[in-house]
Amino acid sequence: MEKQRIAEILQNGQPDEPLIIQGWVRTKRELKGFAFIEVNDGSSLANLQVVLNLELADYEALLKQLNTGASVEVAGVLMPSQGKGQRIELKAQTVKVYGEADPETYPLQKKRHSFEFLRTIGHLRSRTNSFGAVFRVRNACANAIHQFFQEQGFLWIHTPIITKSDCEGAGELFSVTSLDLKQVPLKKAGGAGGAGGAGEVDYSQDFFGGPAYLTVSGQLEAEVMAMAFSNVYTFGPTFRAENSNTSRHLAEFWMVEPEMAFCELKGNMDLAEAFLKHVFKYVLETCPEDMEFFNQRIDNSVLATADNIINNQFERITYTEAIALLEKANCPFEYPISWGLDLQSEHERYLAEQLFKKPVIVTDYPVEIKAFYMRLNDDEKTVRAMDVLAPKIGEIIGGSQREERLDVLERRIKGQGLNPEDLWWYLDLRRYGTVPHAGFGLGFERLVQFMTGMGNIRDVIPFPRTPLSAEF
Ligand code: 4AD
Ligand code: MG
Repeated sequence: MEKQRIAEILQNGQPDEPLIIQGWVRTKRELKGFAFIEVNDGSSLANLQVVLNLELADYEALLKQLNTGASVEVAGVLMPSQGKGQRIELKAQTVKVYGEADPETYPLQKKRHSFEFLRTIGHLRSRTNSFGAVFRVRNACANAIHQFFQEQGFLWIHTPIITKSDCEGAGELFSVTSLDLKQVPLKKAGGAGGAGGAGEVDYSQDFFGGPAYLTVSGQLEAEVMAMAFSNVYTFGPTFRAENSNTSRHLAEFWMVEPEMAFCELKGNMDLAEAFLKHVFKYVLETCPEDMEFFNQRIDNSVLATADNIINNQFERITYTEAIALLEKANCPFEYPISWGLDLQSEHERYLAEQLFKKPVIVTDYPVEIKAFYMRLNDDEKTVRAMDVLAPKIGEIIGGSQREERLDVLERRIKGQGLNPEDLWWYLDLRRYGTVPHAGFGLGFERLVQFMTGMGNIRDVIPFPRTPLSAEF
């Protein structure tokens, strides 16, 4: 007998087919002389119904073991289902219980649990319908991302997780050190560890011979690789020690960062738009059942949103235009807004959700509120930045055309209080064969949130890391 995944059986299984399944019991229903169990193996939202009857060896003892959460292997034959709700079911011939789950203590009983409660059992929550759907869609998004870039000839590169530079200059860094925190070596006046700075940590004794951090972005290294391969992308974990307990921030999240040589802001916007459209299309095609589930159970605008993304052009406006629209808005914002201030998520959502009712790409932000690497416009007041704002989420993509002129870049680095010497290799890219180039970063979890309608970012990553929380 052949072992099959449940998704495959539900789709293509034919009566009289003998086969084996393995999975976890979701529910049990006992009737007179027979019983049904619903088994799920993670391959689909729907379970496979298994019929057990008295002819089975140790029928009574077996039924006592087959509680919600138990792991089983069932060998049997497919039959057309008599009941409604499923086309086909499996008539069990032999059942092996791998591991029982005590109904007194197993926390996932049949009732509906809140997402807050499920976060406290992060090791078990993936066995629920909602999280099954989330992580299948997350997988499909990742697949779609690779497919999109690979088809367009982008090289997938791997940027480092440990780095010495703060790409975003926001200082939200996690330190990486092998120093003994109980006996941190300090610099002595005129002694080891260089002149000056007596009393400061002597990082020359640390693993990398200087301060090192978990990366906040793979962009700087992606730029290095784009200057050799033209079009590249990195897709990896990213870390930010921002102490913001919101439904859209994680301390560890995944970012997709394409970087293109010989590309300006317009090409960057076009890529971001085509990219999001492709991912939505792919997920609708490959996960229709899960997407239908989100639409019914989580947010009834999910399918309409997907349709809207795929079929409408994104709005494109400048920051200056956005401010004018926000100042005119008849909306009680919590934070004031005027030219020069950064958009808060309420402003971003107003633009995307209420005003345009679709994604909006905002460009040309004030130089003071954006990172040093963004290309300075001729007005010297704004930079070639672009943020893609999505309904419900706000900023989902942040990117820019990069400053490719050596003198301007040096000026910008100094202007932000950074030391150009620390970025000597990054500046070398402008010394040798510099070209106009651009790229962006997509927050992968924000994409999955946008796709599924899940309200909290902690519920679209298997093991969320947020302030004071890294349990599982
Ligand atoms: O706008 P950000 O900070 O841009 C960069 O890091 C650039 N270096 C990217 C590039 O041009 N290559 O971050 C990019 C995206 C944001 O738009 C947001 O979707 C997501 O990353 N993001 C977060 N997602 C979850 N939790 C956080 N704390 C996030 N911070 C940013
Ligand atoms: Mg940003």
